[in-house]
Amino acid sequence: MKNQRIRKAVFPVAGLGTRFLPATKTVPKEMMPIVDRPLIQYAVDEAVEAGCDTLVFVTNRYKHSVADYFDKAYELEHKLEKAGKIAQLELIRDVLPKGVRAVFVTQAEALGLGHAVLCARAAVGDEPFAVVLPDDLIWHRNGAGALSQIADLAEQSGSSVIAVEDVPRAMTGSYGIVDAPSFDNRHGGIASMVEKPAPGVAPSTLAVVGRYVLDARIFDLLEGLAPGKDSEIQLTDAISQLLPIHPVLAYRFQGTRFDCGTHLGLIEATIRFALDHEALSAATVVAMQQALAEMGVVEH
Ligand code: UTP
Repeated sequence: MKNQRIRKAVFPVAGLGTRFLPATKTVPKEMMPIVDRPLIQYAVDEAVEAGCDTLVFVTNRYKHSVADYFDKAYELEHKLEKAGKIAQLELIRDVLPKGVRAVFVTQAEALGLGHAVLCARAAVGDEPFAVVLPDDLIWHRNGAGALSQIADLAEQSGSSVIAVEDVPRAMTGSYGIVDAPSFDNRHGGIASMVEKPAPGVAPSTLAVVGRYVLDARIFDLLEGLAPGKDSEIQLTDAISQLLPIHPVLAYRFQGTRFDCGTHLGLIEATIRFALDHEALSAATVVAMQQALAEMGVVEH
């Protein structure tokens, strides 16, 4: 895959989102908003910025709203146009920039992240591609997005690249953990990886974050995979099998990640994006101070 720039990004969004029940009974996790945009929009923007022109969404039959969101909203556009609301019109037209194509594939059963990626095989074909998990929201104010950073490294090195970040040892059981002996604090070759190891046996504290650039050989490996941890087809297991035949680098990206698959992560992301929002920042600070004072958390 030397010098090949990724053009395709896969968004596995067919998970059940059980941690956000009851909201996720009808609203897919990826459609939950941070300020004014759903999580999936941030993920799409990051992929487009990285140079992707084909976006493959792996959904399930209950997630019509993801496809609806990226579809043209004729009636709404007409109404906004008639009302002269041009700024709002542009907002909804811009959800998918011109020249970018959305493809939808279905994962009939939530058999795991690895299985979801495999469902995208026909849409991706035989070229390196990105995997972006929208619930890992990465904020990087002044600089290239996380996917752009790992796509650059993949293109320069001809390797697959996985985004990682350091987590407290007590947390290793919540992540895929890599062993990268030559890691120089920014990147290094992965020797092995393991899904959700207990802190005592984790090979490091470098945790996989939801941004990958992968060689297409991963599909053959996923095809032959038996269910692993939590009885799911694990992407981590397929990457482990890729290691002996193709180099995979871990890359510690620049930016702050919010785990919006958890309640606290979603709250932290909302606070960060509100504080970073031109029109909302000052009012958010006041609202937070007021809440803290009224709740008796700090003196006003
Ligand atoms: P998670 O482990 O966060 O699972 O999946 P989940 O089902 O979405 O959420 P909880 O744990 O029940 O609250 C990580 C990513 O993989 C996708 C999810 O949509 C999410 O983006 N995924 C997971 C699939 O697309 N299919 C699967 O079978 C499993």
